[in-house]
Amino acid sequence: MLSPTLFPLFCALFLCLPVAVIFTVQRELTGVASPEFGFRSLSVFSLYARNVPDASSPPLRITPPIPKDDEPLLRMASHVNPNHPPGSTRKVAFMYITTTPLPFAPLWEMFFNGSSSKALYNVYIHADPTRDYDPGFSGVFANRAIHSKRSERYTPTLAAAARRLLAHALLDDPQNYIFALFSPSCVPIRSFDFTYKTLVSSRKSFIEILKDEPRRDAPEVKLEDFRIGSQFWALTRRHARLVARDRRIWEKFNKTCVREDTCYPEENYFPTLVNMRDPRGCVPATLTHVDWTVNDGGHPRMYEAEEVVPELIVRLRKSRPRYGEDGINGSDWSVSKRSDPFLFARKFSPEALEPLLGMARSVLFNDSACDA
Ligand SMILES: *[C@@H]1O[C@H](CO)[C@@H](O)[C@H](O)[C@H]1NC(C)=O
Ligand SMILES: *[C@@H]1O[C@H](CO)[C@@H](O)[C@H](O)[C@H]1NC(C)=O
Ligand SMILES: *[C@@H]1O[C@H](CO)[C@@H](O)[C@H](O)[C@H]1NC(C)=O
Ligand SMILES: *[C@@H]1O[C@H](CO)[C@@H](O)[C@H](O)[C@H]1NC(C)=O
Repeated sequence: MLSPTLFPLFCALFLCLPVAVIFTVQRELTGVASPEFGFRSLSVFSLYARNVPDASSPPLRITPPIPKDDEPLLRMASHVNPNHPPGSTRKVAFMYITTTPLPFAPLWEMFFNGSSSKALYNVYIHADPTRDYDPGFSGVFANRAIHSKRSERYTPTLAAAARRLLAHALLDDPQNYIFALFSPSCVPIRSFDFTYKTLVSSRKSFIEILKDEPRRDAPEVKLEDFRIGSQFWALTRRHARLVARDRRIWEKFNKTCVREDTCYPEENYFPTLVNMRDPRGCVPATLTHVDWTVNDGGHPRMYEAEEVVPELIVRLRKSRPRYGEDGINGSDWSVSKRSDPFLFARKFSPEALEPLLGMARSVLFNDSACDA
């Protein structure tokens, strides 16, 4: 028999136990690609909720399902905490925009395999649902596709896809510290460890910001505020939330292109926005190497399999990023002394997978191979 003084304590413990269990389950199930889990565990929770004594129980943080439509998605993301929880692990959100299966998935798989812990990163994919994905996404990419929409060049839909990815990643994990965007033809050219340290030790976003001729009528954006830059940036959590909050500037870019062949809203919107709002929070350069000395109908040079030799990787790594003009003589003169390392490179032809895998351990993910 329980003594009369212990009985209320016993009851209190008994009542709290299911709540604790549900809370734990809830935290583990809020995976990005399965918002329905949010619903399921919410309804399970409500069965127990009636038993919860109001007083003295700590507030329960329920993660609601991530909305599928852009407007509620971005609105919800605009309310997240822009600060990474101090003292907790900083995570890198690797975000891929694709319309095809990921040709370099095996290489990325090896890259992520080099990580000391799965808790250092999250993977998100935006996959245009009007296209076929065969083979489907597997390994680290399995079940990581967010609710995606049609995304095409020469339209604002690519920039919209990037905003969708940012909003998702903001909501999915408060520990996401920096958010990097990739295309299917991007590859890593450093070890995971090196890449991770470079990204999470930065308090600024890496985003190319170059002066550009405005191509559209947008009174909210003054002529001198138009910027252009590679869409392959890495934005801090603060800037990711800035994107989620932005309506005014986005409205000016979310328009049908007047002249298709010169219209790349994804290369204008992000640099213009962050440069208007927080130029000092940016290193005005991209860490994804690209060779524009060849311009093939709006596409940069594509490395074919036979060109992919260790010397190419070493050369890419040794290049210095191009820093935006604003950086040289504007808000942050200190960039002229910077030399940030390239972490990724594009574009590689799908056939380059074999030679890249062949030199993965000896060169690509070997940080000392640069001295070879
Ligand atoms: C990942 O690492 C494990 C253990 O080091 C190894 O067994 C596995 O083959 C690796 N996978 C890939 C894709 O490199
Ligand atoms: C962008 O514009 C299109 C077409 O006008 C509209 O359907 C869509 O909702 C807009 N997207 C956002 C995120 O505002
Ligand atoms: C930067 O500013 C200095 C002095 O104002 C000027 O002499 C120099 O040409 C400028 N550099 C660039 C790259 O604009
Ligand atoms: C990494 O590169 C260095 C320098 O070229 C080389 O000595 C070493 O053997 C390489 N490591 C691997 C695992 O291949």
